[in-house]
Amino acid sequence: MSELSLVPPEGVLIGGKWQDSGETLEVMSPASGQRIARIARGQAEHVDAAVTAARAAFSGELGAWSTFTARARSEWLLAFAAAIEADRDVLAELECRDTGKPMTQAKGDIAACARYFRFYGGAADKLHGETIPYDGDYAVMTLREPFGVCAQIIPWNYPAQIFGRCVAAALAAGNTVVLKPAEDACLSVLRLCSLAVHAGLPEGALNVVPGLGREAGAALASHPGIDHLSFTGSPETGTHVTQAAAQHHVPVTMELGGKSPQIVFADADREAALAAVVKGIIQNAGQTCSAGSRLLVERSIHDEVVLALAARFEALSCDAGERDPDCGPLINARQRDKVMGLIDAAVHDGIRIAAKGRLAEGAPQGGHFVVPHLLTEIPEGHAVSREELFGPVLAVQAFEDEADAIRLANATDFGLCAGVWTKDGGRQLRLAKAIRSGQVFVNNYGAAGGVELPFGGVGRSGHGREKGFEGLRSYTRIKTVAIRHD
Ligand code: NAI
Ligand code: MG
Repeated sequence: MSELSLVPPEGVLIGGKWQDSGETLEVMSPASGQRIARIARGQAEHVDAAVTAARAAFSGELGAWSTFTARARSEWLLAFAAAIEADRDVLAELECRDTGKPMTQAKGDIAACARYFRFYGGAADKLHGETIPYDGDYAVMTLREPFGVCAQIIPWNYPAQIFGRCVAAALAAGNTVVLKPAEDACLSVLRLCSLAVHAGLPEGALNVVPGLGREAGAALASHPGIDHLSFTGSPETGTHVTQAAAQHHVPVTMELGGKSPQIVFADADREAALAAVVKGIIQNAGQTCSAGSRLLVERSIHDEVVLALAARFEALSCDAGERDPDCGPLINARQRDKVMGLIDAAVHDGIRIAAKGRLAEGAPQGGHFVVPHLLTEIPEGHAVSREELFGPVLAVQAFEDEADAIRLANATDFGLCAGVWTKDGGRQLRLAKAIRSGQVFVNNYGAAGGVELPFGGVGRSGHGREKGFEGLRSYTRIKTVAIRHD
């Protein structure tokens, strides 16, 4: 077997071989603004070749993936999980430098990536159809079949984790994959793909075409040869991608972000709540689809909570991810300018900045830093309480009572996650039922990431579920077989 190079490949992976793509894109460090690598600038022709290879691998004309039984897939995925764990230091280093996230978070992301392969490896041979008791002389069963060629378009905020979430589930179910990682950060993904080839994944089971969204991404979403498409990113791009896939009636899973509330009642364990509220917004510098970007707090404790939070925010510092700060830089200048523009607009509308974090001494010049911001006195319906900012910015609003908390929680088109902090058991359940979102956490936020827990949105947060067994089922479709007998 060939030596694995530490530098991620600059090409496209098609049919088990890295190929030169011609043009490349520069990969910039979010912390310094300097170039750190190059990646392929894949085009429609590469996407076309990748889809052809994935089709051939699925049908049995290329490689051996189609001959892998559920148990063989399970064994490969489990072995690959171990390979990821063995390589975790290099992967975490790449993830940290490429995305700018703090090293502790990068390490956690690589561990989560391995857990996806372990979870779906364990689940691959436990997925099955049903038998249905039916009229008269029939025996009826459902077969749970893979779709075929799965197209996956993923973002830059959690490249390794989302690679695990999408690729492990699709392969476990017996599909083949064409992946379009994000141009802003995908070095860990390219190394993971090299590791997969090195770990003996049959040719064509996983193909990768890095490049721009409007080039490689658009070519993949509109390709007539794909059988399923999963997309994680912005609602706007999600609409384009859905429209493109609809031309060929390709089913889609859309994970499109959120404006998730943390709801703190006066009876809550305040220390636990506030620690989770801070973590929920500064993790990955707020560039997290499930970020808890709104705090809804009961009026009677509002002022005290704002004071306590202000002290916590002022203690937060930003630096390069390698130095493992509270908060890293944003991914690029465009995202930084967007977030700063939204903060300036909020201040212009009379919203108060109750506290700010700071830049660490010696933080690199040229980094796309936005220090954590705590915003209060927000007029009802203002954009900072409805729109996803994708930065370390927490919008605080007071509520009067339980009904008001539910009304405010649901006053956004998004619906991905919610945190509910109260000791009242009845209230916990009432809120869990009334909040319009895909996940509700009570007296915690995020349940430590749990790869086992189904995840996805309602409304503008998207549709379809990933993670857990639901995620595995969503990479399959049901065929009904009815047999008439004497
Ligand atoms: P984006 O949604 O445009 O990018 C996500 C992925 O889609 C990338 O791989 C990109 O190359 C690809 N893409 C872009 N245009 C495409 C097209 N026309 N056809 C097919 N694929 C395409 O997100 P972007 O521009 O990087 O960030 C903009 C905003 O999106 C952020 O400010 C944030 O609000 C949101 N976002 C949400 C994420 C989430 O986890 N829910 C992740 C990334 C961004
Ligand atoms: Mg980058």
